[in-house]
Amino acid sequence: MGITIKNQQQLEGIRKAGRIVAEVHNTIGERIQPGMTTRAVELIAKNIVLARGGKSATLGYGGQPNPYPGFVCVSVNDEVVHGIASDRFLFDGDIVSVDIVVELNGYFADATMSYAIGTISQRDEELMEGTKLALSAGIAAAVEGNRVQDISEAVSKVAKQFGLGVVRDLVGHGVGLKMHEDPQIPNYVSRGPSPRLRNGMVIAIEPMLTTGSWRVETANDGWTVKTFDGSNAAHFEHTVAINPGGPQIMTRL
Ligand code: MF3
Ligand code: CO
Repeated sequence: MGITIKNQQQLEGIRKAGRIVAEVHNTIGERIQPGMTTRAVELIAKNIVLARGGKSATLGYGGQPNPYPGFVCVSVNDEVVHGIASDRFLFDGDIVSVDIVVELNGYFADATMSYAIGTISQRDEELMEGTKLALSAGIAAAVEGNRVQDISEAVSKVAKQFGLGVVRDLVGHGVGLKMHEDPQIPNYVSRGPSPRLRNGMVIAIEPMLTTGSWRVETANDGWTVKTFDGSNAAHFEHTVAINPGGPQIMTRL
């Protein structure tokens, strides 16, 4: 499809979808706690999104023979992304990443947050803090005239400062008229294409960092991506519009 430049009407549509995503994250942040199942977390999201007239862009994603079965992705501890909600209980000390892509009236917005369940380890606190700061640094670099690579560099620099692994197999992406559009937004500096950022582009910036190695593997369910070394992972993501007034976070209230 190539890189799309969104007009004002499309930006407004994406922002409306983004507000639903933000509302879901706020509510999950208030309610998530030890003793809850990951399915209960998913249900919070499902109830809000459906009540607002939205739908899940992940449910059924990929199609046959193994469509993604979750309304949102719920990934615990060493699960990096694409975890599937289940009867698994959340315990004190877990970290849980919830990745939500809402489609509303044909527009898509995508955001992820990692949540601490009760009290987490010092290293996991650093993991969460480092990943959040990496996202902020990436967003700050999302200005017209910069290149995709400037975002990658900003993200990986923060990861390095915190001594965190940068997952390479999964990347950020253009978003808005579909869940996944060009360009890819790696969280590491690569020799791949690095198009210039232009006003009206909308991108999902999403550092996935670990307390160990960047290496990941896919579980037997065909979806859940876990760290290869069993280290924990955090994932923060926003949908961001490149705008003359500076980066606009669309997945906010
Ligand atoms: N938020 C995810 C992404 O950024 C959504 C894909 S999850 C999938 O790509 F399971 F649907 F693939
Ligand atoms: Co995404």
